[in-house]
Formats: sequence, structure tokens, C-alpha cells
Amino acid sequence: MFLPLQALGAPLGALAGVVTGARGLAATRRRGVSFTAAAVIEPRWLLHQLGVRSDPRTVAMLRHMPAEAELGRWMMFGPTLLAHRLTGFVPPGLGPRAHGPASLWTRRIHAFDRIFAEAVPRVEQVVVLGGGFDLRILELTEGEPVRAFDVDQKETQALKLEVMGKAGIAHDHVTYLPVDFRRESWVDTLRQGGFDPSRPTYWHWESVSLYLDEAVVRETLRQIGELSAPGSVLAQDVYGTALTRPRDPLLGAALRSVAMIGEPVKFGMDLSGDVRARAEDLLAGTGFALTECIPLRPSPVHRDPVYAILVGETGGGEDTRGA
Ligand SMILES: C[S@@+](CC[C@H](N)C(=O)[O-])C[C@H]1O[C@@H](n2cnc3c(N)ncnc32)[C@H](O)[C@@H]1O
Repeated sequence: MFLPLQALGAPLGALAGVVTGARGLAATRRRGVSFTAAAVIEPRWLLHQLGVRSDPRTVAMLRHMPAEAELGRWMMFGPTLLAHRLTGFVPPGLGPRAHGPASLWTRRIHAFDRIFAEAVPRVEQVVVLGGGFDLRILELTEGEPVRAFDVDQKETQALKLEVMGKAGIAHDHVTYLPVDFRRESWVDTLRQGGFDPSRPTYWHWESVSLYLDEAVVRETLRQIGELSAPGSVLAQDVYGTALTRPRDPLLGAALRSVAMIGEPVKFGMDLSGDVRARAEDLLAGTGFALTECIPLRPSPVHRDPVYAILVGETGGGEDTRGA
């Protein structure tokens, strides 16, 4: 019953998606804000509405984003939500152990949730690099004996602070530092902001490296390593060349349109074969030993992963959760 109900509303949802996307794009372009940062948190809104993952702050923040996207969001996801409310059914692709095409983004969210939550009690500082509109740092560091830093490009961070203010979201326990990895020394900015390299740190670097040149990615990892006291943890993701240089014409067109809006995809890794060895190569010389490698495939029939989450620790550790 869920699927027919959802299919019935799909045309309206698709139309709303196009209109909302266009309006959101125009609004972010006008302000020089990262469109992809705004786009990647939409699924978190949906997961909250479906009762899969509680995220009231994101829901409140999104209500205040420019371009009146709230109505479009309800129209876009309305068919799914209505079908869910009427049947109680939650699509299996949305849980932590999901399979199928949607599982790439849902498993990513759930995996980073877990990694972040597990790391905070073990460290004294948390740094989110390229935080976009991700609000995990607020919940996971609130009331904890850690110093928290959220680093991102100036315009995107300014909008985040603005909408958090409008939504009444308390964020004083986090230090917000604007920086551009390509043009400025994020290390200097972080140190001046109160970061202490002698304290163990959790570094969260999610869905940023694909927008940077490989040299910048490797240099940033080296710098993170230099700033990491023993006991530090790094979580980052890498996109496979299957996604960053796709053979699929539809995916290729999607990437070209993302490039046209000023966020060209640059760094991808060949994730075929021994993913773990490739991940170890990326972390080589940074001081981080790979402790966890979570490769994700679009479906069980795909042999090679297209995306992987890597966790490294200074001082080493055991790999317990590789998928
Ligand atoms: C796809 S978003 C991911 C945001 C967030 N980490 C998340 O997962 O929700 C990419 C983020 O990388 C940031 N970013 C991209 N290039 C950057 C650069 N050169 N310097 C600083 N931040 C950058 C963008 O501002 C944006 O917030």
C-alpha cells in the first residue's frame, strides 16, 4: 500500500523538487553559499520526519533557510511522508543497515553519527572541517568537557549562524571559524581560535575532500596529522572515481551541473580492489593509522564500492567494523 500511495504523489513531489532546487540554487548563488552543503542535509530532515533519526535542530534550522524552501520540501517529500503516516511503513533503505541506491546517503549519515558519538568521550577537542549546515557538533559536544570548532567558508558559515539565530538554536559552546582551505592557512585560523595541538582531537571531515585538488587533500591531511596529539581520531570520506569520473551519462551530466554552480568535483580515488590498502596509502605519512574502513556499494550486486568512510587514529588501533 505504501508504494502505490507514494507513486500517486510522485509527479507532484518531482515538480516540487525541481522548483525547490532551482529556488535554493538561486538563493545560495546570490549569497556565495555552498549549494551542496544545503542539499546534503535535506535527507536528515526526511529521516527525522520518518522517525528514523531524531534531528530537531536541523528541522528547525531548515525552516529558516532562504527561498521559502520549507513548502517545497513538504511537497517534495509529502507523498513519502503521507504514505508513511497512513501505513506506518518506513522504507528499508533508510536504516543504518540499508541496502539499495538510497543506502549510500543513509548509511553515510548513520555511520558518521556513530563514529562522531564514539569519538567525543575519548578526546578533548572536536574540529569539524567544512561543516556546512551539519549540526551534529551542537548535540554531540553540548555539556561535554571538550572544546568544539566548526570551520567552513565564510559565506556558508555566515548563513548557518544567521539561520541558527533565527531558529533560536543555541550554539555558544562551539567556536565558528571562517576559512578557505585553498587560499588561507586554516591551521593559523584554528590556532588563533583557541585550538590546542597538545590535546587529543576528533577531526570530522565529511564530504569536503571531493571538492578539493588531490594536492590540497593530501596537504590538509598532513597538517591535521601535525596538529594531532596522541589519541586523536580522524573521520573522513572519499568518493570513488566511479562517482567523480562517472561513465554513466546521467551522473556525468549531474556532476557537470554541480561544476557549473561553482562546486566542481575534483578528488576521487580508485576504490576497486583492495580498498583498505588504498585508504592506508592516503593516510600514509599523516601519523594516523587506519582503524576502520567502511566501503559502500550502491547495491550488493555491485562488486566495487563507490564511496568509503575512513577512520584513523594517532597511536593505532584495531579494525573492528570494516564492511
Ligand atoms: C557537501 S558540503 C558538506 C558539508 C558537511 N560536511 C556535511 O556533510 O553536511 C561541502 C562543504 O565543504 C566546504 N568547502 C568546500 N571547499 C572548501 C574550501 N576550499 N574551504 C573551506 N570549506 C570548503 C563547503 O563550504 C561545504 O560546507
